[in-house]
Amino acid sequence: MSKIAPVRYHPLQVSFHWLVVVLVFIAFILGKYISSLPNNEAGKIAPLGIHMLLGGITLVVIIARFITRLRLPKPDSATTGNAFLDQIGKLVHYALYVFVFLMTISGMALSLQSGLMPIVFGNSGAALPADFLAFTSRILHGFIAPALVLLILLHAGAALYHQFMLKDNLLARMWYGK
Ligand code: HEM
Repeated sequence: MSKIAPVRYHPLQVSFHWLVVVLVFIAFILGKYISSLPNNEAGKIAPLGIHMLLGGITLVVIIARFITRLRLPKPDSATTGNAFLDQIGKLVHYALYVFVFLMTISGMALSLQSGLMPIVFGNSGAALPADFLAFTSRILHGFIAPALVLLILLHAGAALYHQFMLKDNLLARMWYGK
């Protein structure tokens, strides 16, 4: 029996997609904000905790999204009419999963390396480490962030190119509908 590919993504995939967009956006802005605060400032703990929590939720969502992506029927890959660009498109999609994953894992590694959990969530009263940049995981976290931003810009740029230049209404595939 031949299977006909759906015209749009499954509503669960659509929800995961836009949820990841919101989570990564807020985590990024918050990450930049907390890294601008000195570690001896008492007011740093609360936004740091929110950042860590959002990052943790992002990890769960990205894993759930990848698993459901493998299992749910999805539309055929979009085409630009150029085989090379189409291959880049597929590569960027996988890279987005990998970089969001690495972003969350490097953040968690940093939290473990620098003993953040009891300070931020256990109310231990201990001081934050003098400088997060003393930890390799912090340096990685700081390198992965702009790489992820670049990928997101490529991805969003391609979606807009499809929508407005190729006029193939690609965005409708990543929204709800019949
Ligand atoms: C998608 C998830 C995440 C994003 C987009 C994100 C983004 C960022 C960004 C942009 C920075 C500042 C980097 C810089 O300016 O060099 C940052 C710093 C940081 N992030 Fe994340 N992050 C994520 C997940 C996490 C997680 C899961 C944790 C810990 C559980 C975490 C802990 C931290 C810490 C401790 C800093 C350092 C703040 C400082 O230097 O004062 N992040 N993050």
